[in-house]
Amino acid sequence: MMRVPWISCLFFAFFVILFCYSSSAQPFDYPTANLSTTWTNDESAPHSINFTDGSRVRSILLRGTYGHKFACGFFCNGTCTSYLFAIFIVQTNSVSNIVAPGIAFPQVVWSANRDYPVGIGATLNLTASGELVLQDVDGSIAWTTNTTKKSVVGMNLTDIGNLLLFDVDGKVVWQSFDHPTDCLVLGQKLFQGQKLIPSVSSTNWTTQKGMYSLQVTNQGLFASVESNPPQIYDDGLVTRTNPNKERSYVRFLNGSLSYFIVSTEPSDPDMWIPIPQASSVQYMKLMPDGHLKVFEWQNRWIVLADLLTGPLGECGYPLACGRNALCSGNQQCSCPVSTSPRKEYFRPMNDLQPNLGCTEITPLSCNSTQDQDFIALTNVEYVTFVANMETVNIEVCKQACMKNCSCKAAIFHYGSNSSRGDCYLPSELFTVTSIDPDVIHYNSSAFLKVQNIRPPPSSTSESPSPLAKRKNRVATVLGSTIGSIVLLLIVVIGFVIFVVHKRKMKAEMEEEYLDQVPGMPTRFSYEELKTATECFCKKLGQGGFGSVYEGTLTDGSKIAVKCLEGLTQVKKSFLAEVESIGSIHHVNLVRLRGFCAWKSQRLLVYEFMSNGSLDRWIYQGDRKHVLKWECRKKIVLDIAKGLAYLHEDCRQKIIHLDIKPQNILLDSDFNAKVSDFGLSKLIDRNQTQVITTMRGTPGYLAPEWLSSIITEKVDVYSFGIVLLEILCGRKNFDRSQPEESWHLLGVFQKGWEQGNLLDIVDKYSDDMQAHVEEVVEMMKVASWCLQNDFTRRPSMSTVVKVLEGVMNVESNLDYNFSHPSMQKTTVGHEKDLTPLLPSILSGPR
Ligand SMILES: *[C@@H]1O[C@H](CO)[C@@H](O)[C@H](O)[C@H]1NC(C)=O
Ligand SMILES: *[C@@H]1O[C@H](CO)[C@@H](O)[C@H](O)[C@H]1NC(C)=O
Ligand SMILES: *[C@@H]1O[C@H](CO)[C@@H](O)[C@H](O)[C@H]1NC(C)=O
Ligand SMILES: *[C@@H]1O[C@H](CO)[C@@H](O)[C@H](O)[C@H]1NC(C)=O
Ligand SMILES: *[C@@H]1O[C@H](CO)[C@@H](O)[C@H](O)[C@H]1NC(C)=O
Ligand SMILES: *[C@@H]1O[C@H](CO)[C@@H](O)[C@H](O)[C@H]1NC(C)=O
Ligand SMILES: *[C@@H]1O[C@H](CO)[C@@H](O)[C@H](O)[C@H]1NC(C)=O
Ligand SMILES: *[C@@H]1O[C@H](CO)[C@@H](O)[C@H](O)[C@H]1NC(C)=O
Ligand SMILES: *[C@@H]1O[C@H](CO)[C@@H](O)[C@H](O)[C@H]1NC(C)=O
Ligand SMILES: *[C@@H]1O[C@H](CO)[C@@H](O)[C@H](O)[C@H]1NC(C)=O
Ligand SMILES: *[C@@H]1O[C@H](CO)[C@@H](O)[C@H](O)[C@H]1NC(C)=O
Ligand SMILES: *[C@@H]1O[C@H](CO)[C@@H](O)[C@H](O)[C@H]1NC(C)=O
Repeated sequence: MMRVPWISCLFFAFFVILFCYSSSAQPFDYPTANLSTTWTNDESAPHSINFTDGSRVRSILLRGTYGHKFACGFFCNGTCTSYLFAIFIVQTNSVSNIVAPGIAFPQVVWSANRDYPVGIGATLNLTASGELVLQDVDGSIAWTTNTTKKSVVGMNLTDIGNLLLFDVDGKVVWQSFDHPTDCLVLGQKLFQGQKLIPSVSSTNWTTQKGMYSLQVTNQGLFASVESNPPQIYDDGLVTRTNPNKERSYVRFLNGSLSYFIVSTEPSDPDMWIPIPQASSVQYMKLMPDGHLKVFEWQNRWIVLADLLTGPLGECGYPLACGRNALCSGNQQCSCPVSTSPRKEYFRPMNDLQPNLGCTEITPLSCNSTQDQDFIALTNVEYVTFVANMETVNIEVCKQACMKNCSCKAAIFHYGSNSSRGDCYLPSELFTVTSIDPDVIHYNSSAFLKVQNIRPPPSSTSESPSPLAKRKNRVATVLGSTIGSIVLLLIVVIGFVIFVVHKRKMKAEMEEEYLDQVPGMPTRFSYEELKTATECFCKKLGQGGFGSVYEGTLTDGSKIAVKCLEGLTQVKKSFLAEVESIGSIHHVNLVRLRGFCAWKSQRLLVYEFMSNGSLDRWIYQGDRKHVLKWECRKKIVLDIAKGLAYLHEDCRQKIIHLDIKPQNILLDSDFNAKVSDFGLSKLIDRNQTQVITTMRGTPGYLAPEWLSSIITEKVDVYSFGIVLLEILCGRKNFDRSQPEESWHLLGVFQKGWEQGNLLDIVDKYSDDMQAHVEEVVEMMKVASWCLQNDFTRRPSMSTVVKVLEGVMNVESNLDYNFSHPSMQKTTVGHEKDLTPLLPSILSGPR
């Protein structure tokens, strides 16, 4: 009995809502316009809606699908005295009414006049001469498309939110996609030369000047802050997403950034960044604080992904805390202070908003450099590090800054010895970030230049006397004093230069000496390596980071020399990296014997492995000999031990990130050793999950790679693939097979489903066929390593135990191995593609 009134109430409410919607909006679907049309920004505009957040739209054109439509027209927010001509996303009902339920606020994705807003009464004319002109009430032209002589015949707003003017042939004469502001919509591309520039703030739509931008240049894609040199805080795109529903993608390919949805899986997972399924409408926006966010409508507008936030988190943005400021933790901002003696040189620009940065209490003055000093900050990271000086002493670095008037700070990166480091002298100081020293594998200090107040002038100049005679005398005294001070200064400066020069020579001599310290990789001269490799004539191979050449040292030992390519812009210290790699010794890891850093050349010298890489031995067709089962078992165990050592026994955990047969080398006795390790980022042992810019090899990439949850389990996965290749004697992707068998993982899964694994064991090896039971047993290990859920994969030390027979394989495994990169991983056209991440994953940084 009580139910009836409730239900009628509900119905009543429903009709009230329906009535409200239909009364506040008139239906229209008006995607195109002809010439000689004028729209006025006032209450006469037909499709005008007020939203509860204070924004108002007056729509002119409307087109779209699914109840989310793109509209263009006038937009304002707040006081609504100034308006933009904009493209925005609105919600519509079944009869194309724009609706304004409480939370469906319009989302502006493009605007014509963000720097010249217009008032009420402004007009937008699509003139008879084919130009779209926005004219303010006072008659001034706020914006125009400049298309008078281009035979425009009409205007169209496309399904994906592109406003365009077309000519008689339907050819596009002008389009809003060519003039992006701060957003990209699905289907839009950012081309070379184009930039996204955020607005000043969320309430002020004016274009930011000299701050953040995201742009595509002929060098690649960069997120940066304008300065000289630019502060690049992202040279690729990194994202974290929900890996289970990948449907829309960000792709940096062929020199442009695209953002779109695909119904099929991408053919090359290496090139794509998936964003969770576009269940409804999405757009991407470069925010005023430099974040690149993806927004999606899920019954309200939510932030789906924050694409550029890297390992430094919120502090990883050059202006996270403004200029001259220190960022720690999750964007805690403060002004740097000198601790000994404790003295403040900076104060916040605004006490209430510490993230606006700090100003110098006494501005730096080049006239009184003798009163300048440094504030030393240790364990800090700076967004961009471009070494101005390499392999120098910390004091040399500081002196260079002191001597250069435009230098604001000296930033110094070094390994274990502060006599050999890289020095960067920025002329503008952005946010400096405090970091946990364990997270990076080098020491980093910053010395901020500060100005002391000149000591009070000497009593001579104060002597009070009205007499001209005395004045004269004072002048003479002053003159001679200044004279002698100048003389003294010259002497002192000369002395300083002498001392510094001597020190520098000494430092250089000591450095030569230091090169020979045992335990450290040897520093070779370029000439030595040139001689050893006979002018780099015997090429062993071409890897991801450069070519490898065979050589012989004067002592007769054979070496492999890797010439690293394209590393000139690498930010982080090469020497520190080499020292840390050189300190890793394990019988199943290829030993780094030395290195060479000469001009822009970077070479690594490794022990020579006479049997080359594993890929030469395991694939049918291109192998020399068929390896015996015992030998294969030993190789598998060796790889597992090498990886277990990297993951668990090093001082800092090392994730290899690029395990594949090409990176497994065999010595004359077929002992397997893992190579190219440590070229990837070293990560802190305690950190189980890090977000890292990475680029492995398609086919060996773990599925969670797409979600950027990178743990050492990605290596376990790649190991699983390699193991399978060894057991089956074929490549994981092999076009010489019948089409349904191109993917080894697919074949493997079918094998499990049909209980028929014997068929996939390497058929070219009678010895393998003779040990088929053991091989199948080892396939279980592979299955365990290939679990889609990385938490279910074993650690490498567990794998070692299983291989040694002291542990069993987990029984409850998931035999569903497929994931996107398996669908269409191709090797063939990899070369035509520009990698998404110009930073090399496994490269020294
Ligand atoms: C534009 O002009 C064409 C042809 O003159 C006409 O068919 C069309 O209806 C016009 N469109 C609008 C929106 O007025
Ligand atoms: C929107 O608000 C303005 C000012 O409050 C008012 O004049 C106008 O009539 C409203 N428009 C609609 C469509 O409700
Ligand atoms: C309008 O301004 C309010 C308050 O500044 C803000 O919360 C809201 O997001 C803005 N709306 C739009 C559509 O920009
Ligand atoms: C735009 O149209 C209005 C009204 O028709 C007219 O007053 C104005 O001069 C036109 N402006 C331009 C630039 O054609
Ligand atoms: C149109 O031309 C003017 C002057 O040449 C220029 O300032 C303006 O930026 C141009 N507008 C567009 C949309 O290209
Ligand atoms: C306008 O764009 C849509 C696609 O978004 C297209 O289907 C339509 O034909 C275009 N109209 C004109 C007149 O070009
Ligand atoms: C918006 O920012 C610009 C540039 O900083 C400034 O000149 C302008 O006054 C601001 N506008 C408002 C309404 O605060
Ligand atoms: C890359 O761009 C060039 C020039 O714009 C074009 O000719 C080529 O087809 C593009 N390649 C791919 C794979 O899209
Ligand atoms: C520095 O010297 C220049 C010229 O010698 C002078 O114009 C300037 O005012 C001086 N600045 C200070 C802060 O003393
Ligand atoms: C940093 O420097 C200290 C002392 O100079 C040294 O002990 C330590 O190993 C260095 N850390 C790294 C990561 O190189
Ligand atoms: C001073 O430093 C700036 C940048 O820090 C650099 O561009 C300039 O070349 C340096 N000048 C000298 C004389 O070293
Ligand atoms: C660091 O290098 C300097 C000179 O290059 C040398 O004198 C000093 O002993 C080294 N210190 C360590 C701890 O290796």
